[in-house]
Amino acid sequence: MRVTQQLDQSAAPILDALAEHCRRDDASFAPPGHRRGRGADERVVKLLGRDVFVAESLALGGLDDRPPGQHALGLAERLMAEAVGARHALFSTCGSSLSVKSAMLAVAGPGDRLVVDRNAHKSVVYGIIIAGIEPIWVGPGWDADAQLPHPPGPDAVRRALDRDPDAKGVLLVSPTAYGTCADLAGIAELCHQRGRVLVVDEAWGAHLPFHPDLPRSAMHAGADLAVTSAYKMGGGLEQGSVYQLRGDLVDPAVLKLRADLLGTASPSPAIHVAMDGWRRQMVEHGKELLGRALRLSQRVRAELTELTAPEGPAGLAVAGRELVGPGRSADFDPLQVVIDVSGLGVGGTTAAAWLREQARVEVGLADHRRIVVRLTHADSEDTIRPLLAGLRRLVNARTALPAQTPVDLPDPADLEPEVVMLPRDAFFGNAETVPVRRAAGRVAAETITPYPPGIPAVVPGERISEAVVDYLRAGVATSAMRVPDAADPTMETVKVVCG
Ligand SMILES: Cc1ncc(COP(=O)(O)O)c(C=O)c1O
Repeated sequence: MRVTQQLDQSAAPILDALAEHCRRDDASFAPPGHRRGRGADERVVKLLGRDVFVAESLALGGLDDRPPGQHALGLAERLMAEAVGARHALFSTCGSSLSVKSAMLAVAGPGDRLVVDRNAHKSVVYGIIIAGIEPIWVGPGWDADAQLPHPPGPDAVRRALDRDPDAKGVLLVSPTAYGTCADLAGIAELCHQRGRVLVVDEAWGAHLPFHPDLPRSAMHAGADLAVTSAYKMGGGLEQGSVYQLRGDLVDPAVLKLRADLLGTASPSPAIHVAMDGWRRQMVEHGKELLGRALRLSQRVRAELTELTAPEGPAGLAVAGRELVGPGRSADFDPLQVVIDVSGLGVGGTTAAAWLREQARVEVGLADHRRIVVRLTHADSEDTIRPLLAGLRRLVNARTALPAQTPVDLPDPADLEPEVVMLPRDAFFGNAETVPVRRAAGRVAAETITPYPPGIPAVVPGERISEAVVDYLRAGVATSAMRVPDAADPTMETVKVVCG
């Protein structure tokens, strides 16, 4: 759906309010107590600059001291909605971790069922716990050769909805942290045939509406509610997050209330300013800037494909169109350059650490066999030069690096969870810690997400199977697998429900 009203997208109301605030320089006895940085420690000001504090002084009360409908914040949100093809947009300064939870609370409450992508960020699992939702898990597509999960396809979602026709809707992650995308249009259609809501965790896709050669954004594909991080692939400040809403299935007033349930009463004005300015920048220059980023991505891909190890054909393999197809993804974001380094005999995490220490290059993500380089509208020939040089050096240094221990990753479908309690009841109920070898058959009271592949193996309320115990113990023993969110990351013990 496109918004018919034509707003003046050259306006940036929050930015203008900040300029006016600076011009007036009113005496203020309201928070923040640093008084435009005058009370901030000079050593902090030296590094951050005084302007950060000045922007932070733009109190929201002052910002919104205008007739209803003309609030700078409200106007900025309407401009954002129009720019991304939504009916409503709502800014948040609490990161998508919180927006995802509020979005879930807006469509499902205690005891409600929701079809949820198992390959989800931990904020989704925590949202299930907070809301008291009963999850109907839909497993990812699994590429056993590449050991890579793909977003669930329409058939898997249809089966889940058929199994649980009472489910309030579907929550998917798209794009994933690897830039792979679900068939959102197909899934939105089958949700809407049943009057069900499609919620998309689009934390990695804030830039998608601003270039036609990027995958279709959730709003353009027909999703009802999407959450984007304005700073991951966009130009906002950290924690800037936007709810986007279209259609009539989710009431914007309900979303606002649910966001208020968890959100802060003191949103950072600097984060608002940056989101407002970034939207205008994208409307005015997004096509050109993202077009440049897409060309850079093509260059990086072409150069890396040629960069093979001198003594053999194996080298760096850059993921491309083969990510797309039946049982795999519906599309992928070319700005997320997924580089398989296993041909060098090293792991992705080893390669990433080497690049950081030896080449002073930080990659976006690393797993047991890949690194992911994320290009944005801010990249240029200058920024990719050290990356390409670092990767060239990595290829030459590969024999000096520790070899990767192979990790045996089962198809997530083989670890089908048995949900026996509401995750919330298991999480907040009485729990005890037991040795992992005695955990099979018990009901989990914690989330255990092994990396790779980053898909929760255990969620509170699920019966822990023998297969899961074996998989986690074997994985951790190789030290190629980490379980950072477990209460005991060594996997010696597990938290289970008492009794
Ligand atoms: C898919 C996904 N959703 C949500 C989040 C949370 O976003 P934020 O870091 O803005 O809280 C992340 C964070 O990396 C993510 O990868």
